[in-house]
Amino acid sequence: MGKTYKIAVVNGDGIGAEIVPAGVSVLDAVATKYGFKLDKQEFPFGAGYFKEHGKFMSDDALETLKKFDAIFFGAVGLPEVDDTLPARDYTFRVRTSFEQYVNYRPVKLFPGVESPLRYKTEKDIDFVVVRENNEGEFVQSGKIMHGDKPGGMAMDTSIFTRFGIERIAHYSFKLARKRNSKVTNVTKSNTLINSLAYWDRVIAEVAEEYPDVEYSKMYIDNASASFVLRPEIFDVILTTNLFGDILSDLGGAIMGSLGLGGSGNINPEKDFPSMFEPIHGSAPDIAGQNIANPIGQIWSAAIMLDHLGETEAAKEIMAGIEATTAKGNLTKDLRGTASTSEVAESVVQFINATKLSTI
Ligand code: NAI
Ligand code: MG
Repeated sequence: MGKTYKIAVVNGDGIGAEIVPAGVSVLDAVATKYGFKLDKQEFPFGAGYFKEHGKFMSDDALETLKKFDAIFFGAVGLPEVDDTLPARDYTFRVRTSFEQYVNYRPVKLFPGVESPLRYKTEKDIDFVVVRENNEGEFVQSGKIMHGDKPGGMAMDTSIFTRFGIERIAHYSFKLARKRNSKVTNVTKSNTLINSLAYWDRVIAEVAEEYPDVEYSKMYIDNASASFVLRPEIFDVILTTNLFGDILSDLGGAIMGSLGLGGSGNINPEKDFPSMFEPIHGSAPDIAGQNIANPIGQIWSAAIMLDHLGETEAAKEIMAGIEATTAKGNLTKDLRGTASTSEVAESVVQFINATKLSTI
């Protein structure tokens, strides 16, 4: 018998209740096939929980979640709940408390999915956005002063530390060694002449330790245009919390839909559980209709298994996603007619139908 992994399952809000179970069905299929066990426990945290209890998580939530190997998460946020709270009280809290300082966000064109970039193929769109996930622009250090008065003012301070920059840089260069040996630092040090100039300097120092990896730097404005015009130049993109947030949604768009993007909030040292979630939000506009695309959630399941060391099972999930899209089994966001559960079912069927030895 293989290993047992303790997985905390947090559906969150909106389409979370549909796509997370879709992802869990795929996880169960590969666990059975590859002989490992998933000891799952659900937690009802999110904006829905807030409406009932006045907080996004129970008071002992972090202590409890800490005992798990990983957190499989959908998204949080509801239109009727103050939208400054979900990130502060759930997502960022988990990411920072558990030192998930890497936000791993791959971008890839699947067979059978038409990218809006009509001249590009699967070979051209295949890279990873590595987003610094614990500091930078999103530390939420700032203040609104005299907000209601004519002299009102507001500020948010970005914080970049040598420690934080070095560890995300090392992660990125090591990742590049497993891919196509290329790191692009996406920055804006020409205008953010303190914080991002320091960011660049520390990364350049780390780059010297990886002479086998091609290193270059690009400004965020040019990088945004390049995502659309020449995505084939990218392999590993190393960038800050804010830039990574925006660029990975753009990555989702060039894949064909936000609903396709998977991600991991990773603590590489495994001192704490990591959290795996699609790149998009809770999509309240399409919740409850069984039409949300579950592929971002299912891809997140594959990234989770890869992190836990079940690499073969992770590869099989990816093969299952590709077989499903290649057949044209697509949800409405990709101009298809399949439901959330039909897409998940198709990935499960692929896993159940293929022999272990053929993968
Ligand atoms: P969103 O990502 O939820 O939705 C943006 C657009 O993409 C919508 O039109 C939606 O229908 C579509 N979409 C997203 N996921 C899809 C899927 N799986 N299949 C098909 N279509 C999909 O972003 P939005 O509307 O800005 O935010 C909605 C809520 O989600 C807010 O409360 C926001 O705070 C929250 N949010 C939560 C995140 C998290 O928990 N990590 C991340 C981003 C937003
Ligand atoms: Mg985002």
